[in-house]
Amino acid sequence: MHLKKLLVLGSVGGILGGLCQAQPTQLSIDRNAGPARIKVQGAPNYDYTLQAGDLASSNWNFLATLTLTNSSQTWFDSASAVIPRRFYRALKLGSPTAPEYADEFRLIDHQGNSRSLYYNYSDDETYHDVTAVVLIFTGNGCSNVQQMVSTINSLRANFAPQGVVFWMIDANSADNRSNIVVEANSLGITNIPIFHDRAQLVARAYQATTTPEAVCISPSDWSIFYRGTIDDRIGSGTVPTTQNYLSNALSCFLADRTVTPRQTHTNGCAITLTSIPTPSYSTDIAPLLVDKCVRCHSRGNIAPLAMTNYAVVSNNAADIRAQILAGRMPPWHADPYYQSFTNDISLSPTQAAMLVKWVDVGAPRGGGPDPLTTVPPQTNYPFAWPASLGIPPIIIPIGNQSIPASGTIDYRTVLVPYTGPTIKVTAAVIRPGTVPVVHHLVAGTGADDALHSFMTLYVPGAYLVAFPSNTYRLLTNNTIIGFQLHYAAIGVATNDSSLLGLYTNGPAPTYPLIQTSVADDTSSWTIPANSNDYEVVRTSAAFATNIWLYELYPHMHTRGSRAKFEAIYPISSNLPNEILLSVPAYEFHWQTTYRFTQPKYLPKGSSIRYTCAWDNSAKNKELMAVYNDLSNPNHSLYTPNTNVGWGVQTWEEMFIGYYNYSVAP
Ligand code: HEC
Repeated sequence: MHLKKLLVLGSVGGILGGLCQAQPTQLSIDRNAGPARIKVQGAPNYDYTLQAGDLASSNWNFLATLTLTNSSQTWFDSASAVIPRRFYRALKLGSPTAPEYADEFRLIDHQGNSRSLYYNYSDDETYHDVTAVVLIFTGNGCSNVQQMVSTINSLRANFAPQGVVFWMIDANSADNRSNIVVEANSLGITNIPIFHDRAQLVARAYQATTTPEAVCISPSDWSIFYRGTIDDRIGSGTVPTTQNYLSNALSCFLADRTVTPRQTHTNGCAITLTSIPTPSYSTDIAPLLVDKCVRCHSRGNIAPLAMTNYAVVSNNAADIRAQILAGRMPPWHADPYYQSFTNDISLSPTQAAMLVKWVDVGAPRGGGPDPLTTVPPQTNYPFAWPASLGIPPIIIPIGNQSIPASGTIDYRTVLVPYTGPTIKVTAAVIRPGTVPVVHHLVAGTGADDALHSFMTLYVPGAYLVAFPSNTYRLLTNNTIIGFQLHYAAIGVATNDSSLLGLYTNGPAPTYPLIQTSVADDTSSWTIPANSNDYEVVRTSAAFATNIWLYELYPHMHTRGSRAKFEAIYPISSNLPNEILLSVPAYEFHWQTTYRFTQPKYLPKGSSIRYTCAWDNSAKNKELMAVYNDLSNPNHSLYTPNTNVGWGVQTWEEMFIGYYNYSVAP
């Protein structure tokens, strides 16, 4: 903060007094009627920060930052009504004051919806429907929040029609999805999503300290145009509100006028941030990267950034922070609120907070060895057959594929018959030939469509394991194995020869693994052009036996945006229906099979309900990235200006919720 001029006025017990410096800056106080009326006179277009305090202790508290639009501005200190002695001063800030920019983030709200801040803006002008985003930091049990709820609801009602989006963010570590829902219902917060900032990443990034602090963001450049309290009430209603800061800030911003005050002090409850000791690179950060990132971020691997030493990581520290905040890395998309999965590669909130903290304190090297330099080159899967399974007794080559240097490569299908005795396959693994180019490979049985009953799937970062314990897939002579191949160009032309390995390890398994899906490949659904949340729901037939459910895998294409599997239990079981998997921010780019840590037991008569939705709008960044990729000969087919139905091409859509199960004894 660059301080140009300091001016102090003292107000004692309502009697005006003070000392003035020479022009142009002047502060005057009028305490004769109601709260102290403070008038700042100074230079237009400069920012002045008002502070209150007691001169003796030189303890100054921030009140507000005003931007003078002409030579003076008046501000009321409502707290003066209950504080008899106060001194004020105004600090003239250097001008222009650098704007503060809002970081991208992604969080899940109390209703299980995932949202990212930057979704609110599209490069396409016809989608500029969001004019401002208001974040209000909140927390359960805070009376300052509770008394603001009706104001917040009416602000939303007034400004939502003008394109203002209201989000609440709860960073309290004691709060969770369930108690946030309870509190929202009891306070009557119905139209505003409340996001739980589990790792407190957003509260820290936005330097939010108090609830209910509001942060107003302009989506056109992500600058923050107001932050602070909603209005100037100081208690539960004894002193009337005279200044409606948030409403004023929004009205001015929408009318293209200067927002002043642009910052105010928030009275309320402290946001308690968990203290994070400064992490050590050698013993905290590098081991975390080895554990959670290096499986993809290593030389010759699928990710662009090979984390091979401190220098690489520290040079990319800002990018790492951004990816974590935006929820893009590590690529794991299940809502952690439901179930647990063996292949969960996400960071815990504590790990995420630690990594971001390390970046925030400047990514220091510190002492100790650099564990990243001694990570041996990867010799395990996908660069070899999985060590846990060994070399497969049956290997089926997919055949040589040539991969061009650039452009988007369309899906390829290869059909290979299995010839040999009938076998009970206990594990099936695709070993990619040229790891960086393989986007995903699927192997299934059936010539028509490899995807209706797939056996195994390779995706980057997958760690493949055997089929669930005591289950098998039967393979008979002359069964056609269908492969679906999806490659990504890497800048040089190359080849790929991937292999399918089939294992028959261990004692003969008892139960056939049934790999099937809730799918609808009919014309009964069509995603309308320019719709951003078109939903389809279908339910499987009821199971004729008790079953063990092992794995779930939602599948859509580029427009896919969310997916959910639910168990619908028979009425006789008295069990409430249950969410088995929710993927609230689906990304086509990552195809993940979610394997339950404990297989789910579903009694006879249960069924599986599968819901998914598509975002066929110019706000869907994944869609628009392909649409705008001129090197893709089919890029124009990814336009949001078209209706989309079922089809195998990625510019068409699919509705498939795979689930893998066996009969339960
Ligand atoms: C399952 C594989 C996988 C894991 C695990 C993974 N990443 Fe990534 N990461 C990728 C891929 C692939 C990309 C390239 C962009 C994309 O495809 O989304 C990427 C991109 C990135 C980028 C952007 C790099 C650039 O140059 O564009 C950063 C930063 C990053 N990852 C950080 C991390 C961190 C930190 C972790 C661990 C906490 C991690 N990733 C875990 C696969 C992975």
